Amino acid sequence: MTTSSPNWNKSSWQSRTALQQPNWPDRKKYDEVLSSLSLLPPLVFAGEIRELKKMLAKAVDGQAFLLQGGDCSEEFAGCTAPNIRETLKVLLQMAVILTYAGGKPVIKVGRIAGQYAKPRSSDTEMVNGVELPSYRGDMANSCLPDPVARIPDPERMLKGYFLSAATLNLLRAFTRGGFASLQRVHAWNQEFVKQSPMGRSYERLAKQLNQALNFMETIGISTDIPQLKEAQFFTSHEALFLGYEESLTREDSTTGGWYDCSAHMLWIGDRTRQIDGAHIEFLRGVLNPLGMKIGPKHDLDDILAIIERLNPDNEPGRITLITRFGSKTIDKYLPPLIRGVKKAGLQVVWCCDPMHANTFTSASGRKTRNFDEILSELRCFFELHWSEGTIPGGVHFELTGENVTECIGGARELADEHLNLNYLSTCDPRLNAEQSLEMAFQIAEMIRS
Ligand code: TRP
Ligand code: MN
Repeated sequence: MTTSSPNWNKSSWQSRTALQQPNWPDRKKYDEVLSSLSLLPPLVFAGEIRELKKMLAKAVDGQAFLLQGGDCSEEFAGCTAPNIRETLKVLLQMAVILTYAGGKPVIKVGRIAGQYAKPRSSDTEMVNGVELPSYRGDMANSCLPDPVARIPDPERMLKGYFLSAATLNLLRAFTRGGFASLQRVHAWNQEFVKQSPMGRSYERLAKQLNQALNFMETIGISTDIPQLKEAQFFTSHEALFLGYEESLTREDSTTGGWYDCSAHMLWIGDRTRQIDGAHIEFLRGVLNPLGMKIGPKHDLDDILAIIERLNPDNEPGRITLITRFGSKTIDKYLPPLIRGVKKAGLQVVWCCDPMHANTFTSASGRKTRNFDEILSELRCFFELHWSEGTIPGGVHFELTGENVTECIGGARELADEHLNLNYLSTCDPRLNAEQSLEMAFQIAEMIRS
């Protein structure tokens, strides 16, 4: 599929109901911002998007594996070199662990460079007894508990665009400029992780990899090649604020197809995927690979109809189903979904988000997740797919390279009383670097080829 859908244009979503949009009070400013955005350069290029789709098509057949991860929601203030570098490092480490064990390419997709918009269950929220407009992500308003800071400001979309560009610029520099070279695998291990059991396991793997590369050099095979020196890395975010997404949607001059050039991959949340809604209408016409989150409340026929709407040609690589059922109920919800999708003959990447349905409020009142429950959902995901004869093609994590204390459990046995030590997320709790590595080693055991 190279051309876009019939009766679609980048504004056709506007005649449908768009849920989860900020109440922009200043419409004039909103329109001005969108028209500025539509003149600014695309953040990614259509050829890269096609490349990602090709790789995802391989994950459909089990010839590649998807690793998607990053913050729940990025913050403007978090757009710093150390933050970007540390997140990239963890993802590269996880990718190496998974590539080594699984014996197939790992498709690296960050929740980064644009993950600034959040769906909320209500338009207002109570903060310290005061009712405020809900925080909808830095691209809409500020998370500060102040009624004025909570008013959605369209200028924030422009800022989000420029910070996405700055983030992508550094990611491209790191992944193309030598930082991500496989010769440097040791250098991605963070100081605070090195002395931990996970850090040491990682060091062992890195050493083996170095030995293999040295061996190649010794016998005269050049290691001065882009396959080793550069990493392929892609960006993704939830396609939520449709005005923003529309203004970054461009026609590819070489093929005539339309691409949402705000990121390589976009996903659609569990709360905005109504078949006749604006989000599905917008996404059906852009040619990017699409993720679709599926939680316990889904209806099978509805899911099948949405996939048909988004991917009428059943093109492999177009659709990734990101299931999020929770460790206790995945065995109830996943098998019927697998069977329904299989029976309909739909080509999809099956990806597990083991984070979102395992969230709870701890005794101390912090929103958290338990490492063991995350791992347990992952295990069930793999086992259920294997027993149904389908392919577990990827994983989706909320993680950070920082030494945060947001999820409990893991090798260091973080407990409820540790959550306050370094809880930084303004949204959902993330795995820290060490917990992320541990997760990768556990998955490696499951997929070892
Ligand atoms: N170019 C390959 C890739 O991007 C191999 C590679 C280079 C790599 N650097 C990496 C793999 C860092 C994982 C992590 O997959
Ligand atoms: Mn989240």
